[in-house]
Amino acid sequence: MSLAILSALPQEQAGLRALLTDVSVVSRAGREFCVGRWRDQQDLVLALSRIGKVAAATTATTLIEHFGVTRMVFSGVAGGLGPGVTVGDVVVARDCLQHDMDASPLFPRHEVPLYARDRFACDADMAAGLLAAAQGLREGVAQHFEAPVRQQYGLDAMQVHSGLLISGDRFVSAADEAQALVQRLPQALAVEMEAAAVAQVCHDYGVPFAALRTISDRADDQAHVDFPAFLEAVAGRCTTLIVQRWLDA
Ligand code: ADE
Repeated sequence: MSLAILSALPQEQAGLRALLTDVSVVSRAGREFCVGRWRDQQDLVLALSRIGKVAAATTATTLIEHFGVTRMVFSGVAGGLGPGVTVGDVVVARDCLQHDMDASPLFPRHEVPLYARDRFACDADMAAGLLAAAQGLREGVAQHFEAPVRQQYGLDAMQVHSGLLISGDRFVSAADEAQALVQRLPQALAVEMEAAAVAQVCHDYGVPFAALRTISDRADDQAHVDFPAFLEAVAGRCTTLIVQRWLDA
């Protein structure tokens, strides 16, 4: 049994690597995979997909075909869409959808052709474990982040949400575009660029999948400023703390 933690960018899983033992770095498909052990108890592979659905799908396929991974978690940041999903909150996906999939009129909008579905469900046990771990972090946030960072990113008011996560090959950085997504997909909590592609690959192979996202921006006209700052200051630590709580539970 081997678990993979994927993120698009190194900042999104900064800190996790230092917790692995017996680490070796393996190159495959133009990427470096960090293979190690967690607390001497389980095999863990850390992977960086880079940005976008195709890059994420290549990485997920390599993890399964070459590294024999049997469970996968995507972790990183996302733009908040749902009411009350604000910067510093955490979203654990219940299901994932590709918001830019549109083969209409051949298939209903968002439906993935020949899969007869527009959503891929996350593994319920993994999602429940990550949700509990995120709630644990929320209660102990003051122990892990300095007051100025907590203030700047609203971490003292961190909310943990569970629901629909949407992915597409667009960085959403305009309030009217975010609003259009909300109107089209009112259940969407947050938007990013990878998870639904990985969910589809995992569905194809029968590999349990979960996705965890910290909200870096509101997918509005300020998103391109908020995103990089949050990435450096908070993203990696959130992933590390939540994954650590989940695996040690
Ligand atoms: N990841 C983080 N913020 C995002 C946004 N606004 N759009 C797409 N992906 C994101």
